[in-house]
Amino acid sequence: MFSLLILHCMTLFLCLNVTVEPGQDAILPCEAPDSKAVIVVEWRKTDLGQEYVLQYRDEQMDPFFQHPSFRNRVDLQDRQMKAGDVSLVLKNVTTNDTGTYQCRVQNEGSLDRNIINTVILNVSASAGCLQRKTLTSHFLLLQLEHIKNF
Ligand SMILES: *[C@@H]1O[C@H](CO)[C@@H](O)[C@H](O)[C@H]1NC(C)=O
Ligand SMILES: *[C@@H]1O[C@H](CO)[C@@H](O)[C@H](O)[C@H]1NC(C)=O
Ligand SMILES: *[C@@H]1O[C@H](CO)[C@@H](O)[C@H](O)[C@H]1NC(C)=O
Repeated sequence: MFSLLILHCMTLFLCLNVTVEPGQDAILPCEAPDSKAVIVVEWRKTDLGQEYVLQYRDEQMDPFFQHPSFRNRVDLQDRQMKAGDVSLVLKNVTTNDTGTYQCRVQNEGSLDRNIINTVILNVSASAGCLQRKTLTSHFLLLQLEHIKNF
């Protein structure tokens, strides 16, 4: 199901929405075509100009032009990049992390960094509220069933 979503998004060359609560970790999905070796992965947030969220090259993190707000908070989900998985893990999100993120990849033998996909991150305190509400109403229904049975 999840990979279907990613596939769909890649085909359309756009978006994926991720909604989390402040303090949670967010995973921003990105899947590079795995036909060629990936030599650079670059994640940017569109409102941050030239400073990036994460740059991974020569099999290590490059902190030089990283925006300070992401220092020690980001990693690749899989540094081996198995099956082209270059998803970003963003730890302990704040509402300030809300925004549009772009995933770019440079393949071996290429000079270009191509945009693979764009992820819209929404950090909202009401993200988990929806889940809790659903749970609560299930619980109430169970209680009602219980009462009726008496
Ligand atoms: C998460 O970030 C907040 C500030 O935004 C900080 O107070 C808290 O200690 C951090 N938690 C962890 C587990 O790093
Ligand atoms: C969000 O950004 C603003 C402006 O840079 C800053 O003043 C504020 O402390 C930040 N809030 C969090 C939760 O990091
Ligand atoms: C962010 O998520 C919350 C909770 O799901 C929703 O109410 C809100 O409209 C979303 N905001 C944006 C900009 O999508």
